[in-house]
Amino acid sequence: TGNFTYDPGFTATASCRSAITYIDGDNGVLLYRGYPIEQLAKHSNFLEVSYLLMHGELPDAKQFSDFEHEVTHHTMIHEALKSFLQGFRHDAHPMAMLAGVISSLSGFYHDGLDIEDPAQRRLAAIRLLAKMPTIAAAAYRYSIGWPMRYPRNNLEYVDRFLHMMFEVPSEPLELPPVAAKALDLLFILHADHEQNASTSTVRLVGSTGANPYACVAAGITALWGPAHGGANEAVLKMLEEIGRPEDVAKAVARAKDKDDSFRLMGFGHRVYKNFDPRATIIRETCHQVLKDLNVDDPLLEVAMRLEEAALKDEYFVQRKLYPNVDFYSGIIYKALGIPTEMFTVMFAIARTAGWVSHWLEQQNDPENKIGRPRQIYTGADSRDYPAKG
Ligand code: CMC
Repeated sequence: TGNFTYDPGFTATASCRSAITYIDGDNGVLLYRGYPIEQLAKHSNFLEVSYLLMHGELPDAKQFSDFEHEVTHHTMIHEALKSFLQGFRHDAHPMAMLAGVISSLSGFYHDGLDIEDPAQRRLAAIRLLAKMPTIAAAAYRYSIGWPMRYPRNNLEYVDRFLHMMFEVPSEPLELPPVAAKALDLLFILHADHEQNASTSTVRLVGSTGANPYACVAAGITALWGPAHGGANEAVLKMLEEIGRPEDVAKAVARAKDKDDSFRLMGFGHRVYKNFDPRATIIRETCHQVLKDLNVDDPLLEVAMRLEEAALKDEYFVQRKLYPNVDFYSGIIYKALGIPTEMFTVMFAIARTAGWVSHWLEQQNDPENKIGRPRQIYTGADSRDYPAKG
């Protein structure tokens, strides 16, 4: 009862007005601030896309270099944050470390807390964008027992991240150009996706007036689940479980069996019911990266066979289940030498651009109200507490 509609999963509820990203799920259209994702993937770079998402317009050359300077200036983290990381067990999942450390930023950068001040809001957004790769790489290195590497600010955003991940002292890191390019492309494709679960979470927390670091930390935890950003990690685990190309048919049969909870990870999407435009772009890059890096990995063979088998299977065709962006991103990350547990962290770095843009938009929105869904109560009727004794 009450003046509201039952809408589990909010499939029919628009929770806000937003001018950032447009999706037409039936026609596979994705626009950031009006620009088609295909064109951004071809001509832009992740930092420029971040500027676009945050500000609404593409930067001119001066605006871009100022923005790049600003982000670069904030890549360092407070030294004391290191001991925060060291408080984790060595085998903690890097997403747990990321969520914890990002949340702790609210205790380190108090000046970001005056969310009434637009300049402070912007500074917090820049800090999040700048520090996320530093913290992500530090979490990874901590998990393998390596000392953290400081950001090399003479490098570009993605290159800098790869150096923080993999560089060891006195050994120059030889990265094939295709690595940074593929990663930059993946970051562009993952930068925003309107009101997905993690962005809605950032907005829900943001609607209460919580500080931006807390909002984004909440977004990270929402992203972690296998139905959302955790899918890229789940894809790799599934491929490992399948193990051999000749076992692909068995996995497809299991995914179709309604008595079996097994699903093909990396297939299907809540909004895209024909194809995921990001998957179309990344599919080509994925095949190219495997070729350029000359990777010979049986799991990648399993992935390609699975893609082929599902695309022509009646069950998947009928339900319009296509490989989504995370099917291919996991394969590319693996080919680049990024460990499976870091896959969702990679997604988080990219999605930070979207999270902070939505948070900034929300804080400026006069219609912003505390998010407070209702429910259909299914519990016991009112009853009396039993008399004792
Ligand atoms: N494997 C096998 N069957 C599937 C799959 C799958 N991956 N996805 C959906 N189905 C079936 C489902 O069983 C149902 O069949 P029926 O109509 O016979 O009951 C039908 O397709 C519709 O599925 P649904 O669960 O109602 O669809 P949804 O919109 O609620 O779920 C989804 C979307 C992405 C959660 C789901 O497709 C899924 O679990 N996919 C695997 C996880 C995954 O790859 N997630 C990443 C999403 S993209 C990245 C991101 O934005 O986070």
